[in-house]
Amino acid sequence: MDRIVVNGPCCLNGEVEITGGKNAIVAILPAAMLVDGVCRIENVPDISDVECIISILKAMGAKVERVESGTVEVDCSHVTSTEVPYEYARKFRASYYFLGALLGRFGKATVAMPGGCHLGARPMDQHIKAFEQLGAQVEVARGDVICRAKRLTGADIYLDMVSVGATINAMLAATKAEGLTVIENVAKEPHIVDVANFLNSMGANIRGAGTDVIKVQGVGALRGGSYAVIPDQIEAGTYMAAAAATGGKVLVKNVIPKHMECITAKLEEMGVSVTEFDDSILIDGTASLKKTNIKTMPYPGFPTDMQPQMATVMLRAEGTSKINEGVWDSRFKYTEELIRMGADISVSGKVATITGGKELLGAPVRACDLRAGAAMVIAGLMAKGTTTIEDIDHIRRGYERIVEKFQGLGADITLIKG
Ligand code: EPZ
Repeated sequence: MDRIVVNGPCCLNGEVEITGGKNAIVAILPAAMLVDGVCRIENVPDISDVECIISILKAMGAKVERVESGTVEVDCSHVTSTEVPYEYARKFRASYYFLGALLGRFGKATVAMPGGCHLGARPMDQHIKAFEQLGAQVEVARGDVICRAKRLTGADIYLDMVSVGATINAMLAATKAEGLTVIENVAKEPHIVDVANFLNSMGANIRGAGTDVIKVQGVGALRGGSYAVIPDQIEAGTYMAAAAATGGKVLVKNVIPKHMECITAKLEEMGVSVTEFDDSILIDGTASLKKTNIKTMPYPGFPTDMQPQMATVMLRAEGTSKINEGVWDSRFKYTEELIRMGADISVSGKVATITGGKELLGAPVRACDLRAGAAMVIAGLMAKGTTTIEDIDHIRRGYERIVEKFQGLGADITLIKG
């Protein structure tokens, strides 16, 4: 089993380049199913979730080519299959985007109930409600979600809770539906806007992405075109947190500073100096840090996907900080690993209480999920001695070349194969 070994402590210094957004590309690639023609997609991150979607697209008959580093061409014109098999869907959560895309294109879709990070209950009732309101019949049987529609017709859809996945799936299914679809109480994350921009650049008519209401006027066909994915907000936030947690100074390049404001504001509150440039952010974490409190929320609130990484920053701060997890039922499993390294953390329900200032000692730890894995790497950089991180497949799902990027910032970090 591959492992990441970190020898700490280390103070990060230098520059790091951020790649395309995972949670954007995992929707954009399935969205290419709606397009008749070649989609040239740039700034595609080299992560295992992308590999997995490319395997699904190829297995279904799409032509997919990596034409150069970070650029993929996808042609789904000749796809006839409407099923995503379990062997692929179980590997990652975003396989559910094939439901909306295939339903939108063929009027039918079968996708095995998705896998992905274990963060508590992950129902799909809002996705299903949106499909049904567009005129589909949806059945969950033998572990598959099966959708069928004679035709999809524009509808008013009100989501009961803000859901990234349901918002995108509703947009995908509505893109070619007959008439106008109005989706209310939608998610506003940067990747929602990116998926809408991708579809619009291929000929869709979607307005309002990034606000509470999205309007989709159905169109007959989408043509091919070129599109560049936005930088990954959470990858950028992870390196910002790592700089702060190690008391380092790091220039995070290829970011959209506006997307980072929720993270920037928290770091500044803790005493980190953050300087924004046009497409980069300089983090200076050399001063001592103050405690803070965080409640995770849908965008523009503080992102749940930055919660474990911010916990490591709190471990360096003076005093007691609190994290209130407002999105997922169970996202504190990683704290048990940090406690094994000497961290002072207690968890009660959806609140973690973190007292900073205790020395961390290297230990063997697990990456419980993707972002928890990133937090283990940061904790390893902060700790004295050797930290060995297992189950790193989770990390590969969403971080491109994480070992090399941290090495470039001066970390003593190695990937051990086998
Ligand atoms: C997306 O998951 C992200 N994944 C997650 O990122 C992220 O944590 C999450 O959004 C919140 O920002 C992808 O984009 C692939 P939701 P998603 O639907 O779409 C409840 C990472 O680390 N809900 O916004 O699955 C749900 O239980 C990953 O990169 C319903 O009740 O999340 C949760 O409490 C992990 N019914 C809340 O809504 C539904 O039908 C938000 O979930 C759908 C969701």
